[in-house]
Amino acid sequence: MEEQDVVSVHVEDGIAWVNFARPEKRNAMSPTLNRRMMDVLDELEFREDVGVLVLGGEGTAWSAGMDLKEYFRETEAQGLRGVRKSQRESYGWFRRLRWFQKPTIAMVNGWCFGGGFGPLFACDLAISADEAKYGLSEINWGILPGGGVTKVVVDLLPMRDAMWLTLTGDLIDGKQAAAMRLVNESVPLDRLKERTTEVAKMLLEKNPVTLKFAKDAVRRVGLMTYDEAEDYLVRMQEACNFHDKTDGRKEGIRQFIDEKSYKPGLGAYDKSKAQPR
Ligand code: COA
Repeated sequence: MEEQDVVSVHVEDGIAWVNFARPEKRNAMSPTLNRRMMDVLDELEFREDVGVLVLGGEGTAWSAGMDLKEYFRETEAQGLRGVRKSQRESYGWFRRLRWFQKPTIAMVNGWCFGGGFGPLFACDLAISADEAKYGLSEINWGILPGGGVTKVVVDLLPMRDAMWLTLTGDLIDGKQAAAMRLVNESVPLDRLKERTTEVAKMLLEKNPVTLKFAKDAVRRVGLMTYDEAEDYLVRMQEACNFHDKTDGRKEGIRQFIDEKSYKPGLGAYDKSKAQPR
C-alpha cells in the first residue's frame, strides 16, 4: 500500500476534509499513518483555499487508537530507538494539529479508542455521531492511557469521569460523550456531515487571523494565573492586530457603528468589505 492511501484529503468550499483511511484496520494509527498525517497537515496548513480542517474516519471507525502491531510490537522489536521515533511521529502530528493555523473539527463517526483521544483533543471542536463509541481500552490490554491520553481526559472531564473511563475501559456513546463534554455535540450519524458542514461554515465567516489567536488563547490561559492571562491576552490582541492586514476589528466597528449593516451580537461582519492595508 502506498503511504498516501492511509489518509484521504478532499478540499471543497474552504473546508479540508481529512480522513483516517485504514477502514480495514479500523483506522488504527500506524507509524505510516502518523508520518502521512504530518505531511498532510504540512500541505494544508497555509493553503489559501483552506479555512477549516475537519478530521473524520472512513468506515465504521474514527480511530481504534494506536496500532497494537505496527506502532507497539514492531517498533519495540527495533529497541528504544524505534520506540522513540514512533512516539515522536505520533505526538508530533497531534501537537501540530493542536496548534494548527486554521480551526479544526473532529467529526467522530465511529470507534474512538485510547490513542484516538490525542487527535480528538487536538481538534478545537468535536461533533460526534450518536452511534460513535469512545473508550479507554488501555486498561483492557494492560497499559495505562499514555501518549498524553490521561492528560487529555483530566483536562477535558471531571475527575470522576476521567477515573471511571481510565479504570473500567467502559464504552460511552456519542450522546454520553456530549453530556460529559468530551465533544461539543452529538447528532445521528446520517446528519453528522451536514451538521459538521454547518459548524465549519460558521467558522469560515469569521476573521481567520482572529480565529487563530483566539483558539491558541483558549488552550494557553488554562495554566496561567489571572494576571498572567490578562497580560498575555493584551499582547496577543496586539499581535493579532499586527498580523491582520485587513484591520478587521476597525472594519467590524465601522460596519456596526457607521454603516449599521450588522450587529456583532448576532453574527460576523462582512469580511469582503475590508480593505487590505
Ligand atoms: N491495532 C491494530 N490492529 C487493529 C486495531 C488496533 N488498535 N484495531 C483494529 N485492528 C485490526 C484488527 O486486528 C483486525 O485486523 P485483521 O482483519 O487483520 O484481523 C481489523 O483491524 C478489524 O478489527 P476487528 O477487531 O475485526 O473489528 P471489529 O469491528 O469487530 O472491532 C474494535 C472493532 C475497534 C472494537 C476492535 O478492533 C478493537 O478492540 N480494537 C482495539 C482497540 C484498542 O484497544 N485501541 C487502543 C489502542 S491504544
